[in-house]
Amino acid sequence: MKIIEDITEMHSLAMQLRHEGKTIGFVPTMGALHQGHLSLMQHAKKESDVVVASIFVNPTQFCPSEDYKEYPRDMEGDMEKAKGAGVDILFTPAVSAIYPEGYRTYVEVEGLSSVLCGKVRPGHFRGVSTIVLKLLNIVKPHKAFFGQKDYQQIVIIKRMARDLNLDVEIAVLPTVREEDGLAMSSRNQYLNKDERMSAAILYRSLQEARSLFEKGEMSTEKLKDAILSAFMGNSSAKLEYVAIVHPEISEEEKDVQKGTVIAIAARIGDTRLIDNIIL
Ligand code: PAF
Repeated sequence: MKIIEDITEMHSLAMQLRHEGKTIGFVPTMGALHQGHLSLMQHAKKESDVVVASIFVNPTQFCPSEDYKEYPRDMEGDMEKAKGAGVDILFTPAVSAIYPEGYRTYVEVEGLSSVLCGKVRPGHFRGVSTIVLKLLNIVKPHKAFFGQKDYQQIVIIKRMARDLNLDVEIAVLPTVREEDGLAMSSRNQYLNKDERMSAAILYRSLQEARSLFEKGEMSTEKLKDAILSAFMGNSSAKLEYVAIVHPEISEEEKDVQKGTVIAIAARIGDTRLIDNIIL
């Protein structure tokens, strides 16, 4: 596995690979790799000639009160894992190279960035769309791979790709889960033993809503109630929001139907976790 820090080197290699007719699959990450990331890399390997993954803890997607400094970093361990998952090129740019002095340009996907998680994380999705666009411009992939866990992020990236006529396919793969259903996330590392047990409530509550839907319940309110009451029985997990929305997330669904998305965010102690299901 080749490790590239330099933006110009990454860009030139990507151009050369394209010139040689190779397809490039890309997995952008912030590191602290877990099985969710690795499954994206393994999948990219099956579908592309060359797999590029990036590790970049993007400062512009953290709000001032958030965990940018504490965000888990393990470059050595990540290199081993990425190599094992079949990554050919690991791109690890420095913050000063991505955002040099005088940097001023940001991408905002209007409307979609200010709902759901965007309400409590102002500026977060602006940071995400900006870095993803920059990485796509540098790595020049044919296909970029993202996990369904970050559902709003995917909707925003897909919208950006359409609106800005980006020449890249955005592929979405299912959320990878722990045995008790907890969605894999780098932030799960923050949970202590008790919090880790409580965290299973996110997926359990979503499953309860799904099971009601499968029994024929179509009312958004009833499904929301099911999630709220699942959280009521769990004193250390605080539901931040539950949203039952159209797959494009712009509108809340009046009645639930196949394809409706249920997205939740909750705080377990100091850790904020998200999850979602598509009915
Ligand atoms: O999903 C993430 O890990 C990040 O938001 C991403 C897409 C790598 C951008 O920093």
